[in-house]
Amino acid sequence: MKKYSFGSDNHSGVHPLIIKAIEKVNNGYCFGYGEDEYTENVLRKIEALLGGNCKALFVLNGTGANVVSLASFLHPFSSILAPEYAHILQDECGAVERFTSCRITPLPSEQGRVTPQEVKKHLEFGDQHKVQPAILSISEPTEFETLYTPAQIKALADLMHRNGGYLHIDGSRISNAVAALGKSLKEIVADSGADVLSLGGTKNGLLIGEIVVVFNLKKNKAIAENLVYIRKQATQLYSKNRFIAAQFEAYFKDNLYIKMAGAANRMAKYFEAQLKTMLATLSKGGANTKVKAKAEKIAFTQKVETNAVYLSLASLSDAQIKKLQDKYIFYVWNKETKEVRLMCSYNTTKEAVDSFVSDLKELLQK
Ligand SMILES: Cc1ncc(COP(=O)(O)O)c(C=O)c1O
Repeated sequence: MKKYSFGSDNHSGVHPLIIKAIEKVNNGYCFGYGEDEYTENVLRKIEALLGGNCKALFVLNGTGANVVSLASFLHPFSSILAPEYAHILQDECGAVERFTSCRITPLPSEQGRVTPQEVKKHLEFGDQHKVQPAILSISEPTEFETLYTPAQIKALADLMHRNGGYLHIDGSRISNAVAALGKSLKEIVADSGADVLSLGGTKNGLLIGEIVVVFNLKKNKAIAENLVYIRKQATQLYSKNRFIAAQFEAYFKDNLYIKMAGAANRMAKYFEAQLKTMLATLSKGGANTKVKAKAEKIAFTQKVETNAVYLSLASLSDAQIKKLQDKYIFYVWNKETKEVRLMCSYNTTKEAVDSFVSDLKELLQK
């Protein structure tokens, strides 16, 4: 076990209130597979939080949530449109393609976001020799932890709907978007017209469990009804569903999910500010010119909008980056530019951030 990690928000442990919630349902007996009254009640409460016109069910993990969400909306000849760096394209070992037998078409993106203009270029239908685009999958926050505004999401949903298609949101970190935008889950997702959401929990303090939600039941009724079968085939039906339900009940109670995500977002902002102050100190007038040049080569590569800081450590050698990684877990996102991702979670401490900034300062002064 390491003392520090900025590798991912799922490197953190489980929030104590979530552990307590699990313990609370650990007595007695009930039906499995979500066919118990308690799990049903929690799901109905979650559906109400999301605006009511939706069907929610629990799954095990984020990849599974994406597989179930997307498979529900596709024919074998459909294609999925997604930003080029989408998790479903880059980091899920082809799970969606394997399960659905559908192609994912990568779209150019800017800071993780796709635009309606770009999506429009790929909306070609009717040629029997070509796959038919059926659903656009975006992540909120994006793969670079930047944000779409609800208006931007709505523009994408409207475009897909005008073309007989759908919008999927990979909301593995949707709570971080809720905390950053100051808007509710309903406003960001349901009111924007999304058809299906993968709603994450594990990256924000849960032990295990995510939710798939299908919206707009008038239009998507048959799809919602088939969800349970797709979940089972995708091996995402957990027999002891009440333990996932208990976690999410505690997660949404008193806005714990927003509190945890807000803490992670604030820590990323603090991280950015401390790095900027340290770099400014090293590059101000009168400083050692070699050190100054090194500090000036360190660049923020993405906007800090939720819980991650992206930084190019271009002036450090590979050995120096490795030295930092010996003490702090973090990923090199782009080997060529030495871009690294520093991610905060609900329990990242100022002490951890200060320690990293101080060690980086020392390396830059060498
Ligand atoms: C945006 C996004 N979606 C989906 C996933 C997949 O989640 P899991 O690792 O639980 O399958 C991740 C995990 O990192 C992610 O970052």
